[in-house]
Amino acid sequence: MKTKIINTPDLLKAASRKKEVTNFCVANAKHLKDLKPLAKGKKYYIRTYGCQANVRDEETMRAMLEDVGYSFSKEVENVDVIIINTCAVRENAEDKVYGEIGNLKRLRKKNKNLILAICGCMVEQPEILKRLMDTFPEVNLFFGTHEIAQLLDLIYDCYSSNERIVAIESKQGEVVEFIPDCRNNHYKAYVNIIYGCNKFCTYCIVPYTRGKERSRHFNDVIKECQRLIDAGYQEITLLGQNVNAYGKDLDEGKDFADLLEAVAKLGIPRLRFTTSHPWDFSSKMIDVIAKYPNIMKFIHLPVQSGNDEILRKMGRRYTREQYLNLVKEMREKIPGLSLSTDIIVGFPNENEEQFQDTCSLVDIVQYEAAFTFIYSPRKGTPAAKMEDNVSKETKTRRFQELVKHLEKHIEEYSNAMVGNTYDVLVDGVSKTDENMLSGYTETNKLVHFKGDLSLVGTIVKVKIKESHTYSLIGELVNG
Ligand code: SAH
Ligand code: SF4
Ligand code: F3S
Repeated sequence: MKTKIINTPDLLKAASRKKEVTNFCVANAKHLKDLKPLAKGKKYYIRTYGCQANVRDEETMRAMLEDVGYSFSKEVENVDVIIINTCAVRENAEDKVYGEIGNLKRLRKKNKNLILAICGCMVEQPEILKRLMDTFPEVNLFFGTHEIAQLLDLIYDCYSSNERIVAIESKQGEVVEFIPDCRNNHYKAYVNIIYGCNKFCTYCIVPYTRGKERSRHFNDVIKECQRLIDAGYQEITLLGQNVNAYGKDLDEGKDFADLLEAVAKLGIPRLRFTTSHPWDFSSKMIDVIAKYPNIMKFIHLPVQSGNDEILRKMGRRYTREQYLNLVKEMREKIPGLSLSTDIIVGFPNENEEQFQDTCSLVDIVQYEAAFTFIYSPRKGTPAAKMEDNVSKETKTRRFQELVKHLEKHIEEYSNAMVGNTYDVLVDGVSKTDENMLSGYTETNKLVHFKGDLSLVGTIVKVKIKESHTYSLIGELVNG
């Protein structure tokens, strides 16, 4: 099979943040009419790895595919289009993708017309793209995070040219509005407010795979949220790699606090946002969160490390003291606040004392939830070039020690919830016990309880009976 290269990625271009005016446009497929007869009666399968940005991209792709006539299949067998939407943030995220594609290539032997596509953050890295192209000749479409809007035209190209297509352009990126819309969930929705990242933390690949920070127009976000409220949604999560940067690239005179307040005022029962970088978390934002009861008192505030030298090497732009002051202000102004975080263990040359600073910060902040990661070098990032004298064993030992520090408070927090009653947004049948339902409290605690399936998508009162560190068992409170 011949390969048609439309664009290939380039990390230097991906890292460029030259000032340029953002292009705002509406997705518009050229070959919509021609593709419709080809898509009629056909099925697609899509598998997404990684963060909510990828989950939202999946929804966008589903909307486009369904608009042209493809229908969604939960099973990968006997479909006509397979899309693997990848994540590159750590090596283990990538390994899963190699495994999965290895399993899928047999399907293309069975069906010569199958479109097997890989998209997402992995293909934005030149070396990984090359490895994928060499290892999997069965994959006949590669497209990047900036090409989502072109998906239908790329599929049409695959059908009409019978070539393998590579379309991955490294660029700062535009803001594309997608109409129609599609959501995987009927009561909880993610709404993009800002794409990309300009922070360039030295360990992180995201600014290279997702382009520059670019905000959607204030009114476009508000209109989308209003549509969701009109459709009966119970929860909206405003999305961005760094939501606090919202509006800085627009001249609309609005910042994230303004947007958060405006969405809260629309009256959605539950409003969340993720992720917020500690560096530009303003007091104005804290005041807005404290003021509106429908903004959930849950903030994900990645710290990464509790040591100033490591924070500096990571390029995080705050010190331990600044972070702790921010947490203090949040806890003082927002009663009942629950804080969660991300922490990286084993950054290059992290010594024992520096690691202990992270443990002591965890003991001070007493997070209610946390994600911990062992540092994974990402080619092309500055940290990947640093020498590292910390052994794998030391990193693993530190990781386990850190988890113990975190679990101590998480367990205390869960135990203290026993006997109290909380509002829970019901998600569905519990994944651990099919006789139970499960859902999340306002502070994002997972609760399992007995109840009727008709409650899914509603907010109910649940009294907590039993605590396990990461989840709770409760009982429905009538009325
Ligand atoms: N924009 C978000 C995070 C995106 S990535 C933020 O800044 O908070 C999610 C988390 O993955 C990060 O917070 C970090 O803890 C972790 N991470 C990113 N790059 C990593 C790497 N190279 N190795 C290990 N963990 C990493
Ligand atoms: Fe990565 Fe840092 Fe940007 Fe988060 S803020 S996406 S960790 S570069
Ligand atoms: Fe992964 Fe890309 Fe998100 S690297 S974490 S899917 S932005």
